[in-house]
Amino acid sequence: MAAITKVWRTALVALGLVALAGAAAAQQSTPPGAELYELCAQCHGERGEGNQVVLAPAIAGLQEWYVVAQVRNFKGGLRGTHPADVAGLRMHPMALALETDEELKAVSAYVASLPPVYPEPTVEGGDAERGAQLYGTCVACHGPDGAGNEALGSPRLYQANDWYLLSSLQRYKNGVRASNPANANAQVMLGIAGTLADEQAMKDVVAYIMSLRK
Ligand code: HEC
Ligand code: HEC
Repeated sequence: MAAITKVWRTALVALGLVALAGAAAAQQSTPPGAELYELCAQCHGERGEGNQVVLAPAIAGLQEWYVVAQVRNFKGGLRGTHPADVAGLRMHPMALALETDEELKAVSAYVASLPPVYPEPTVEGGDAERGAQLYGTCVACHGPDGAGNEALGSPRLYQANDWYLLSSLQRYKNGVRASNPANANAQVMLGIAGTLADEQAMKDVVAYIMSLRK
């Protein structure tokens, strides 16, 4: 009897070790935030490539500080609450699904870790040469190369979908993406977008931003 018990004990210890090793391997292969990202993937895609049909932009490889800031904005009602903001209203409840700030930070880090996808431009009729002139206004904050500036809260622009940049400029200008006066950064862009005369000017500057990709 004693011998059998000993064999069993050895077998159980071995099984336990296998289970532990398995758990450690699973932890290593699933980066923190990846599980939370399964919700986000439904609209933004497995690789964060975006999906225009549901108005979800590419988010893969956005700067981590910017993702954290925007998801906090959505969660706190600083963005995505205007009744005419179809896209923002879709994202607002998704941010609310992140219960803790730890979850919010973990999923944001995962988004930032995804390799950028540089989605194909789809907006037609923009003139990048005219856009280069208009982009002069943007340089101070987004940089001559469009790389953004964390200290100013201004994101990198050239990784985005062109349709999303255009839509954002339109919604800053008409206040739909700057409807909460407490969102100081959106208020800055409300003023800037107001200097772009019309949709053609927006298309031109967006065409120039697309040309900044290397
Ligand atoms: C039901 C669809 C849907 C789901 C699910 C979803 N999003 Fe979004 N998300 C959107 C839409 C639509 C927008 C565009 C909002 C806009 O244009 O103002 C957006 C915008 C964003 C932005 C802003 C990008 C930028 O350049 O400013 C971030 C960041 C983001 N989502 C992260 C996430 C994360 C993280 C999750 C998962 C926790 C998630 N989203 C889940 C639809 C979704
Ligand atoms: C004074 C600084 C400043 C200038 C100048 C400026 N921006 Fe911005 N921009 C910002 C900030 C800050 C944000 C983040 C706004 C927010 O959180 O909604 C931003 C956001 C954006 C976004 C949204 C990007 C995204 O991923 O959602 C677009 C598009 C944009 N800017 C385009 C432009 C263009 C085009 C110009 C020039 C015509 C310009 N900006 C000039 C500061 C600036």
